[in-house]
Amino acid sequence: MANTKLLLTDLAPTMSHVPSNYIRPISDRPNLSDVQISDQGFIPLIDLQGLEGPNREDIIKQIGQACQHDGFFQVKNHGIPVTMISKIMDVAREFFRLPESERMKNYSDDPSKTTRLSASFNVKTETVSSWRDFLRLHCYPLEDYVHEWPSNPPSFREDLAEYCTSIRGLVLRLLEAISESLGLQRDYIEKALGKQAQHMALNYYPPCPQPELTYGLPGHTDPNLITILLQDDVPGLQVLRNGKWIAVNPIPNTFIINIGDQMQVISNDQHKSVLHRAVVNCNKERISIPTFYCPSPDAVIGPAKELINDDQPAVYRNFTYGEYYEKFWNRGLATECCLDLFRASCA
Ligand code: OGA
Ligand code: NI
Repeated sequence: MANTKLLLTDLAPTMSHVPSNYIRPISDRPNLSDVQISDQGFIPLIDLQGLEGPNREDIIKQIGQACQHDGFFQVKNHGIPVTMISKIMDVAREFFRLPESERMKNYSDDPSKTTRLSASFNVKTETVSSWRDFLRLHCYPLEDYVHEWPSNPPSFREDLAEYCTSIRGLVLRLLEAISESLGLQRDYIEKALGKQAQHMALNYYPPCPQPELTYGLPGHTDPNLITILLQDDVPGLQVLRNGKWIAVNPIPNTFIINIGDQMQVISNDQHKSVLHRAVVNCNKERISIPTFYCPSPDAVIGPAKELINDDQPAVYRNFTYGEYYEKFWNRGLATECCLDLFRASCA
């Protein structure tokens, strides 16, 4: 009998095998035995204590180096209370445990919807599905979107609104630090974004009977400016470094920050938007909560003038973020970087 369920949350527990539409071609599988486990220090862990005080210069230096060399870093003493972190993880878990009929009220496969529950990445266009359900929400300005958000679990809107506001504060502090690390005015990046947007996703990766055949999310770079990832204690995120995939070991109460494509452009290639992916496992569900900070669709993005010189001419042409995002979405998650389509030499 054909299975008509749209969400993996409900389907996965009934499966002893991965259905064929989730199986990647042999050349594109996670190859889990060839993955390196990150030891301490692979992704720099930066202590933000004193960022607005005596340690500013030193912390900015660390952030700048991480953005240049790693494209990824972790932060502690970030100012987001532990209680808020556990609340948001709990409410996300509760959401994916709601009865299917309740969750499905939020379902849509239309990517233009500003609040939607869906599966995989883009169920309309992709040929192979990913082992993931996600709830995607626009969350800035809050008052434009909160009324669309799920009202169940009952504290969902309040908990998420509080979290989004705090994360926004953290992002703005980081953007100032990153601007300074590039030798730009403190508010340069924030200003370059126009009327900024903040989106978030609650990603739910169910246990998978054959994790070696599929991905939670295949390799991609994030098309936005910067991403702040909160995750539970189940490993799954992997980052590409020197041609090798490295598994990131979650550290409780830290956030993982990664540079997105727009930051690579603004920095004129000084900062790296790095390929990453999520793999799944046999035993444990995994929840991750990325916040995507984005320029306004009509913001004109291009390398900062101050970072263009004879040694490093503009690597990218100017474009609007709307144009970029449309290209990204239409291509689907492809390993070739969408950035290449916007190189000055391709104009
Ligand atoms: C993403 C992403 C990684 C993860 O949502 O863009 O890379 O660990 N997620 O869920
Ligand atoms: Ni990502």
